[in-house]
Amino acid sequence: MAEAYIVAAARTAGGRRGGRLSNWHPVDLAAEVINAVVDRSGVDPAAIDDVIMGCVDQAGAQAGNIGRMAVLASKLPESVPGVAIDRQCGSSQQAVHFAAQAVMSGTMDIVMAAGVEVMSLVPIGASAKIGKDAGMGYFQSPNINRKYNNFFFSQFAGAELMAKKYELSKDDLDRFALESHQRAIAATKAGAFKDEIVPVQVRTADGKATDEMHTVDEGIRFDATLAGIQGVKLLQEGGCITAATASQICDGAAAILVVNERGLKTLGVEPLARIHQMSVIGSDPVMMLAGPIPATELALKKAGMKIDDIDLYEVNEAFAPVPLGWMKAVHADPARLNVHGGAIALGHPLGCTGAKLMTTLINALKQQGKRYGLQTMCEGGGTANATIIERL
Ligand SMILES: CC(C)(COP(=O)(O)OP(=O)(O)OC[C@H]1O[C@@H](n2cnc3c(N)ncnc32)[C@H](O)[C@@H]1OP(=O)(O)O)[C@@H](O)C(=O)NCCC(=O)NCCS
Repeated sequence: MAEAYIVAAARTAGGRRGGRLSNWHPVDLAAEVINAVVDRSGVDPAAIDDVIMGCVDQAGAQAGNIGRMAVLASKLPESVPGVAIDRQCGSSQQAVHFAAQAVMSGTMDIVMAAGVEVMSLVPIGASAKIGKDAGMGYFQSPNINRKYNNFFFSQFAGAELMAKKYELSKDDLDRFALESHQRAIAATKAGAFKDEIVPVQVRTADGKATDEMHTVDEGIRFDATLAGIQGVKLLQEGGCITAATASQICDGAAAILVVNERGLKTLGVEPLARIHQMSVIGSDPVMMLAGPIPATELALKKAGMKIDDIDLYEVNEAFAPVPLGWMKAVHADPARLNVHGGAIALGHPLGCTGAKLMTTLINALKQQGKRYGLQTMCEGGGTANATIIERL
C-alpha cells in the first residue's frame, strides 16, 4: 500500500468568542488556510483531488457543504470538489485520516484535509436547534434514550465523570490549566507558533478588512495565576470543572496537504511527516471523553509501539480531566504532553481543532528534533481518533 505524507500545514491563530476573528465568514476563513497551504506547498491548485473539511455545527454560515463552499471562496479552481464531515470535535483529525486513506488506496494522490469553526457566529449546538422538538439532545432518538435511561449526553457531565474515575482533584485541574497557559505563553514568546500561523486581517462588524493582522492566539491569559484560576466559579454545584479548566470557545481554521509518493513526485517537494498509524474507536457516550484512551491503545498496538516510543503527544484539552485521565491510563510522560499548551489556553474551535493540533504537533517535533508524535481527541457520542506521525 502507498504511504501518506504531510507536505504542508497551516492554521490561523485562535480568536476568542466575539473577538478578532468573529467577523469572518467561516467559508472565507477556511479559504485563507487553504490558500496558505497551496502557497506553502507549491501545489498546482488544479491538481488537488478533493478538499475534506471538518466542521461540527454545519448550520447557517457553516451549512451547504462548507468543504465545497471553501473551495469556491479560495484560489482553487471550480474543478476541485469538496466535502464537509462531522466527527464532532475530531472532525478535522478525521479529515486527515480520510485524506490519508484516500492517498494510501491510490484512488487519489493529493488531498487537502482542513477544518473550520467560527463559534462566535455559529454557536456550539446550533445545528441541534432545528425541528419541531428542537433543543440540545434533540439528536438522541427514543431508541437511544431507552437504551441509555434518558441520560442526556453532555460533555460537561462527562468531564465530571472523568475527574471522578481518574481521581483528579479540583487542584489537579487548576494546576493543569495554569500549566496550559504557561506553556502557551512560553511558546508564543519564543516564536514557536510563527511558522504555523497564517496571519489574517481583522475584519469589522460589516465584514470589511482592516490593516490589523491577527497573529497571536487570543485565548492565552498572559497574566494567568493559580489564585485567579482557583477563584473561577464552578460550572456545576458539587462538581470540580470551571471555565478555567474547560476548553475555550474559539474561532479558527486549519489545513493540511496529504499526498502519496506519486503526489510527492508531482509536487517535487520533501515531506514534513509521514502518517504512521491511525485509529478510530467508539466508547461509552455517557462518559464520552474517555475515548482517547482506547484509541491510543489501538493505534499503538497496530503500530507495534509503546507509549514510551512516542516523543510528543497532543491530547485535546476539551476539559482538564481528559488529558490528565488519559495520562494516568496510558502511563504517559507529562513533559511530552501538549508542550505548547492546549485548548484551555489556546481555545478549541471544534471542527478546526484536529488539523490545528496536527499542525502544532508537526512543528513541535521539528523544533525539538524529535521523531514520533501522537494526537488524540475525545468526541461527542464517545468516539475518538488517534494518529501517530513520524516527522521526516
Ligand atoms: C465553560 C464555558 C461554558 C465558559 O464560558 P464563559 O462563561 O463564557 O467563559 P468566560 O471565558 O467568560 O469565563 C468565565 C469567567 O471565568 C473567568 N476565567 C476564565 N478562565 C480564567 C482564568 N484562566 N483565570 C482567571 N479567570 C478566568 C473569566 O474571566 C470570566 O470571569 P467573569 O465572569 O468575571 O467575566 C465555555 O468556555 C464552554 O462551553 N467551554 C466548553 C466548550 C465545549 O464543550 N467544547 C467541546 C468540548 S467536548
